[in-house]
Amino acid sequence: MFETLSEPAPDKILALMAMYRADDRPTKIDLGVGVYKDARGVTLVMRAVKAAEARILKDQESKSYTGLAGDPAYAEAMIGLLLGAEAPRERLAAVATPGGTGAVRQAFELVKMARPGGVVWYSEPTWPNHVSILNYLGLEARPYRYFDEASGEVDAAGMLAALEAVGEGDVVLLHGCCHNPTGANLTGADWDRVVALLNAKGALPMVDIAYQGFGDGLEADALGLRTIVAGCPEALIAASCSKNFGIYRERAGLLVALAADAAGAKLAQGNLAFLNRQNYSFPPDHGARVVTEILTDEALRADWQEELEQMREGMLALRQQLADELRRLTNSDRFDFVARHRGMFSRLGLTPDEVTRLREEHAVYMVGDSRINIAGLNAETVPVLAKAIASVI
Ligand code: LMR
Repeated sequence: MFETLSEPAPDKILALMAMYRADDRPTKIDLGVGVYKDARGVTLVMRAVKAAEARILKDQESKSYTGLAGDPAYAEAMIGLLLGAEAPRERLAAVATPGGTGAVRQAFELVKMARPGGVVWYSEPTWPNHVSILNYLGLEARPYRYFDEASGEVDAAGMLAALEAVGEGDVVLLHGCCHNPTGANLTGADWDRVVALLNAKGALPMVDIAYQGFGDGLEADALGLRTIVAGCPEALIAASCSKNFGIYRERAGLLVALAADAAGAKLAQGNLAFLNRQNYSFPPDHGARVVTEILTDEALRADWQEELEQMREGMLALRQQLADELRRLTNSDRFDFVARHRGMFSRLGLTPDEVTRLREEHAVYMVGDSRINIAGLNAETVPVLAKAIASVI
């Protein structure tokens, strides 16, 4: 029967990873997939994660099933991290998922159950897998304007104008912080306007937050999400622990549904557990347990936050260095936005041809839309990259 299948469309981020691995030039630079790397190019296990894992290895007495929603302590700890002390707990349903992608997938599945044929609006551009999953599930995916290529900043007025077309019951997908792929983010005032507009339209916000702590800090990065939760009757939140805990392969994510009232939350909780059961039964537990250990232990949490801050500050320093270097070499402010962007990514605004030349002539690997992963750089490779960019533009 398999002969009836056709080749799936390649994922451009994962295809780039394979190309990078196959390149044997020693000077190659990987600015592709969104994985944090230190100055030596290594994705180390964070100190607090190591300590939590050692504790789990010593103390865990059973590996029997948790619940369909995962360990409730994980959901509580993560809700605290995401939403703070003000979280309207009685209106929330939450399930553990295999990574942030699992949360995105389950959120879309819930939308499909609640609104067959529903419309989901996504920022243009967005993480390509958002659109891919929507298409796969048969939900209607519609883009809204987000990014101004010319300035490298958010086009907030254009975004609000585009969202005027949103219908009642439509879902609007937003990036909580550290927008992927552009690095350009909404301001606090923009979030307020988005909330007012979505409420006026009767639309449901869905916030994908995969980089909390990588932008302006753990609390500041949750501001948009908290504005949504404080101001909207209903919302969906897909959170990932892959990046900020550095536990990519452990697949720890959380899907939260904010309902209008406690009865709605109970209904959502039951349906989310049902969806987990249909798709993979019990969600993975190890990564979630590591996160719970860290978030609920004062010393581990402080150590994790300290290391996360160092990572964040390192990325900011690289941003500044790259912006300065490009300013010097191009004698223009064209790339100044790199220093203003936040998170792992910046979209540089290079043409596909320039991106190809960077790869072929300079062994610099970035996604075809000219998204770079800032953490793929270090103080020595920033000037190399800047020089290569200046030579192809
Ligand atoms: C990325 O955008 O590079 C990351 O989110 C990794 C992925 O799964 O695509």
